[in-house]
Amino acid sequence: MNRPEPAPSILLDCALHAARLAGEHALANVHRRTEVLQAFKHDVKLNLDVECQRKAAGAILERFPDHAILGEEDTGDQPAAASDYEWIIDPIDGTVNFSHGFPFWCCSIAVRRGGTVLAGAVHAPAIRETYTATLDGPALCNGQPLAVSATPALDQAIVFTGLDKNAAPNVAPNAIFERITARVQRTRVIGSAALDLCMVAAGRGDGYFESGIYIWDIAAAGLIVRRAGGATAGYNRQPGGHRQAFIATNGRLQEELTALIGEALRLDPIA
Ligand code: IPD
Ligand code: CA
Repeated sequence: MNRPEPAPSILLDCALHAARLAGEHALANVHRRTEVLQAFKHDVKLNLDVECQRKAAGAILERFPDHAILGEEDTGDQPAAASDYEWIIDPIDGTVNFSHGFPFWCCSIAVRRGGTVLAGAVHAPAIRETYTATLDGPALCNGQPLAVSATPALDQAIVFTGLDKNAAPNVAPNAIFERITARVQRTRVIGSAALDLCMVAAGRGDGYFESGIYIWDIAAAGLIVRRAGGATAGYNRQPGGHRQAFIATNGRLQEELTALIGEALRLDPIA
């Protein structure tokens, strides 16, 4: 007998529960923030990244044992389930921030089916904010409805971005950053793509761009932007399929920001 498909609200309950478990584990263990698993010039992986992913994946699989998991971390214990439903986990988005005690980090969990994100939760315990959305429901922060800004032009906009760890091919490092900065009111580099996007959803900023960002950084928060009335678009899918360029705005700025970035970087839309 076929099981009924879970409603987006049921999926969201699970995403939220898992994000809270992982986020609260990180917060309770913030004193272990310097326990480094792997260090890179511009990045770090912590023991807590892996621990938090295990917490989140465990909670999801307890509820939906035959669903697939795609997590940022290699925890070595993920069953390779073939399922229409795929849960996308970033246990700590903003790990470098977390490792310094800078409070802009979060746990991001989304679930997609056939490429469509159905529900997403972004839990940022150190700033006491939890963002959620479903495909058929509102975007919320701590239960309150979100709406994007009405900023009409880039010269009045805050645009969030990240400094690409690996510059896009044929583009000088930071060239796009300089181009955006010259055009907008202010650029901001906070260090958590999921929270950057939540800021756009909340109308606290107006746009977001990164030339190489992973799906686990943007899946949940991208849905939250769209359900808050904004627009998102993915470009230039990289080999492996998990990394891409991503542009998000309040909707009104989508064309202008895309055109600006398109002057410096060839943009091939992801179908
Ligand atoms: C990083 C953050 C950062 C972005 C990087 C991401 P992580 O995620 O989202 O803002 O600029 O590209 O990799 O590694 O902290 O999960
Ligand atoms: Ca991460």
